[in-house]
Amino acid sequence: MTDERIVQVTEALKHVVDPDRQRDVVGAKMVRDISVDGTTISLTVALSSPDSPHRAQIEQGIRTALGNLEWPTDIELSWTAEVSANTGFGQEGQTIPGVKNTIAIASGKGGVGKSTVAANLTVALRELGTKVGLLDGDIYGPNIPGMLGVNGRPVLENDKIQPLAGFGVPVMSMGFLTDPGQAVIWRGPMIAQALRQLVHDVAWGELDYLVVDLPPGTGDAPLSLSQLLPLSGAVIVSTPQDVALQDVRRGIAMFETLRVPVLGVIENMSYFVSPDTGARFEIFDHGGAKRAAEELGVPFLGEIPLDPEIRIAADNGQPVTSRGKDDPVARPYYEAASLIGSEVARLNAAKPDPLPVL
Ligand SMILES: Nc1ncnc2c1ncn2[C@@H]1O[C@H](COP(=O)(O)OP(=O)(O)O)[C@@H](O)[C@H]1O
Ligand SMILES: [Mg+2]
Repeated sequence: MTDERIVQVTEALKHVVDPDRQRDVVGAKMVRDISVDGTTISLTVALSSPDSPHRAQIEQGIRTALGNLEWPTDIELSWTAEVSANTGFGQEGQTIPGVKNTIAIASGKGGVGKSTVAANLTVALRELGTKVGLLDGDIYGPNIPGMLGVNGRPVLENDKIQPLAGFGVPVMSMGFLTDPGQAVIWRGPMIAQALRQLVHDVAWGELDYLVVDLPPGTGDAPLSLSQLLPLSGAVIVSTPQDVALQDVRRGIAMFETLRVPVLGVIENMSYFVSPDTGARFEIFDHGGAKRAAEELGVPFLGEIPLDPEIRIAADNGQPVTSRGKDDPVARPYYEAASLIGSEVARLNAAKPDPLPVL
């Protein structure tokens, strides 16, 4: 009887589609541990990204499908996330062992808040329960150590650089290898060598996401690093004014040339709300990044206001997202993190399965 009901439940769930994978939840192996006790159906759904923006839709679909069964049902749903891996890189040397997805945080120019976004997204993804690492690829301005309050010298073990840890996240930065305030003068071949080491000689361990703070702009350093990385995609951070948006277009063009998907555009320093009067000021204009994203056909990941709390938290090595997802200042970073996770899952699902190793 029970077994028969489990079969009926499974059949019914084949009508529920996961928007990320564009497959039914049974076929996509997202449904776990179905049990039926009398009229109570319990099951676990493994979403393909943390805090998936599609969760409510999937839940609705499941409740409708199971509500159509010929017997009365109580439904007990549990949720988990199982991040899919980017299998698009078949050649050896292109992948980073153990790392499922690599996400670049890019900007058309410096000072737009790229590193702050990278640090906050990383901590948000970690708080949402995924395994995430952070590579500070900005060899000219390695600000990540300060933003996460991590310092020290990484050690070598078995020929691999052991990353340092902050907020439960493995972190690697050139900033750990140079003295604070010291200007590092990089010449072409040294840059390539240093970047290669940062990518391939670090013991990252098992990661769902490796977030990379790219050097700003579309010059040699961001280009070389993007080519070294097995990127699932790139996030572009911009401020709203017109001149910045021209840089967004250049950034998108660079990733298109590299055949790296653009996961979306974030508008940083989007507006300022005066704490005493509540009046809203659009210091750098507003909404430009959204328009540019629409025009260029890439996702828009949201607006982050200009807020002194964000700057102070970053200066103190305590990114606002470490306060959790219900904190109002942290909230937009969490929303962007969910959308990025979902877009990565969608792109991974659209890739063919890797060829079996013979
Ligand atoms: N939304 C924001 N509100 C207030 N200050 C911000 C915001 N985003 C970034 N900042 C601050 O702006 C400065 C530049 O940000 P940073 O992340 O270092 O930019 P980038 O990496 O693009 O050069 C930093 O002092 C940072 O704390
Ligand atoms: Mg920076």
